[in-house]
Amino acid sequence: MALIDGAEVAKHNNKKSCWIVLQDRVYDITSFLSKHPGGAAILLKQSGSDATTEFKKYHPLDYVNDLPPRSCLGAIDPNTFGSLTRRKDLEDRPSSEANTGQKIPHISLCVSCLDFEKAAKAVMPRKSYIYASTSANTGASLKGNIEDWERINFRPRVMRNVGDVNTQRSIFGHNSPYPFYISPMGTLGAIHPGAEPEMVKGAVRKGIHMVVSTASTKTTEQIMRSMVEEQKRMNYASPTRLFFQFYMPVNRERAVELMHMVKKAGYKGLWITVDTPVLGKRESDRVLQAEEALSVGLEKQSTSEWEVGGENAFAPAMGGRVVSGQLSPHTTWGDLKWIRREWDGPIVLKGIQCTEDAKLALEHGCQGILLSNHGGRQLHTAPSSLMTLLEIRTYCPEVFGKLEIFVDGGLRDGSDVLKALCLGATAVGVGRPYLYALAAYGSQGVERCTHVLYEELTTAMRLLGITSLNQARPEMVNASRLLNEMWRPENTAARSHL
Ligand SMILES: Cc1cc2nc3c(=O)[nH]c(=O)nc-3n(C[C@H](O)[C@H](O)[C@H](O)COP(=O)(O)O)c2cc1C
Repeated sequence: MALIDGAEVAKHNNKKSCWIVLQDRVYDITSFLSKHPGGAAILLKQSGSDATTEFKKYHPLDYVNDLPPRSCLGAIDPNTFGSLTRRKDLEDRPSSEANTGQKIPHISLCVSCLDFEKAAKAVMPRKSYIYASTSANTGASLKGNIEDWERINFRPRVMRNVGDVNTQRSIFGHNSPYPFYISPMGTLGAIHPGAEPEMVKGAVRKGIHMVVSTASTKTTEQIMRSMVEEQKRMNYASPTRLFFQFYMPVNRERAVELMHMVKKAGYKGLWITVDTPVLGKRESDRVLQAEEALSVGLEKQSTSEWEVGGENAFAPAMGGRVVSGQLSPHTTWGDLKWIRREWDGPIVLKGIQCTEDAKLALEHGCQGILLSNHGGRQLHTAPSSLMTLLEIRTYCPEVFGKLEIFVDGGLRDGSDVLKALCLGATAVGVGRPYLYALAAYGSQGVERCTHVLYEELTTAMRLLGITSLNQARPEMVNASRLLNEMWRPENTAARSHL
């Protein structure tokens, strides 16, 4: 194989001739620029340089085999790496300019979920931080998620012998020491070099369940393998189970293929995301897109696509193949029929936001619903997940006991978890706190975040006067402030639909 000098590679740094280095090989990707699902700009920014690290953040490495064979020009001369272009751009800037150069706090200083965000902000590339923290439009949905948990209060009982407490819960028969799990989040490779397997390692060590995103950096099988390997390494039969978050591809064959792959790999349930027929308007991401477009004078690129694989984008869960239309705006309740035929395990609809849809989920034979507004990233001024929980308790209490009811969005404290359980939730999902913990401390951060939530939960249980989650009851919280603001059928034309 021809040896190519780094200085030569560095010359091919534009639209007319674009070369990059991947895993010691030099590729001419000029003809691929216009076909790249993430846009040409992101490739051009790597032109003339070693793009291996960037590439691995978003794609399984074997994706490189899908480039036409003739695009591989040879091997880079190992003595000339120093002559390659060094890329230092917007993405490399730390998210918090003020923290540049500051040391990351010792992990023991993270005593609440919010501390992980501060630590992560100091180390995360700005682009990754924007991806994680962004929310829809003015941010009202995200703010509502977080603030509503503090707008309900406990009604504690005292003198109840709370020496020992038990926080066990099970999700579809899979026991867990915790009533919370790690929510699915796409493209963790942009958050930590170990990507999803790093998150899984931390989960296994603590025995917490995790839902894996369709838009993961690693393949479905790789992620499952990382769980098995960590269990073996630790010689520990961790109760951790992986469930799969499913973005419905437009192409039904692809959808079926993916479901079968997921089933074969051993995932225990399908969390179908139903609140994302299209992507919400992520404002800080829009600003970033504009900045990047200005910086290279090219078409826009978006971190939003990392979450869904993007329209006409890579779907790493499919083994890095290009999948046309990763998100389907055409999905209807009728689709649950054929999904049911292809998937014989539990089905959860992720993103239920009102009573009517909770009822429909039950009627359509689902096993669970996840009350969620996607972490405030989708519909501007969507109801907080807590508000939806209250509405469903009031107007369709029959779903409790028939469906497993999950809640996510804005849970930042073990006592928030307890409030959700008092109001009837089976378990709750926690998203960003785990992502920030991973960014700052890798799998140790995941363990620490679990510990922090667990400690807060057990303290809250004792101070509330209960020793087991089975004792959690609605009368243990005062939700009257939120109930006063709750949607009422008598005040709306929607009454006839109830
Ligand atoms: C960075 C990021 C990526 C996400 N990616 C996905 C995804 O791929 N699929 C999905 O259904 N939800 C995704 N979500 C939504 C989460 O699953 C979850 O609903 C939300 O984060 C919960 O809110 P919280 O972050 O306030 O805990 C993502 C959220 C974040 C913050």
